[in-house]
Amino acid sequence: MKIIKAKDYQDMSRKAANIISAQIIMKPDCVLGLATGSTPIETYDQLIDWYKKGDLDFSQVSSVNLDEYRGLSHTDPQSYYYFMHEHLFKHVNIREEATFVPDGTNPDAEAACAAHEEIIKKLGGIDLQLLGLGNNGHIGFNEPSEAFEKETHCVDLTESTIQANSRFFDSIDQVPTQAYTMGIKSIMMAKKILIVANGEGKADIVARAFWGPVTPDVPASILQMHPNVTVVCDEAALSKAPIK
Ligand code: F6R
Repeated sequence: MKIIKAKDYQDMSRKAANIISAQIIMKPDCVLGLATGSTPIETYDQLIDWYKKGDLDFSQVSSVNLDEYRGLSHTDPQSYYYFMHEHLFKHVNIREEATFVPDGTNPDAEAACAAHEEIIKKLGGIDLQLLGLGNNGHIGFNEPSEAFEKETHCVDLTESTIQANSRFFDSIDQVPTQAYTMGIKSIMMAKKILIVANGEGKADIVARAFWGPVTPDVPASILQMHPNVTVVCDEAALSKAPIK
């Protein structure tokens, strides 16, 4: 596990964007695993900027997203499909048909999840998976539990995640209570993983996830077992980690 300490959010975002950009340059037809949430927004902004300057080309890139709320339409501004289009896809030359977000509009959870898993397999697996870190240690929507969930599946979101995500909605009752998410196995199968976290609010969970015991109670802790993980955090998020 490689830990990279960034000065602040902007620096974290540039470092993360550099790693993604290197992946695209080294393998132009790579498969990127993407995340939503507030943490990667500036990383995406930076990639867009480099694309606009002619330094990056997404024309052969494919992407798969980690998760999606169950029941939200593509036009719902809270859907992750919408998020990805707003924050990245519509600004770069990635082909629409090469971008895959779990289909939250499919009420058949089993079919929607199996289809997403099949897409990852057909693409030949994920070259680089970008992750954010939930306040409770979740990755994707793999919430703390008694066992590590395997492939893409439907989850009931925990109270703490619903609470955390309510900041994006008008009221907490509007936050969906279920989501489709790639499982821990789907994430761990990625060839490389890049996880980003910033701010003091993440300091406790960063220390538990990357320096604590590996336990399904802190889903991100499993990343300690992956052979190629890069953690990029700002100083605040690393303030409780046992490093200088
Ligand atoms: C988003 C996702 C989530 C977020 C996590 C952190 O696709 O899978 O696991 O990465 O909830 O969210 P932020 O970045 O908003 O703190």
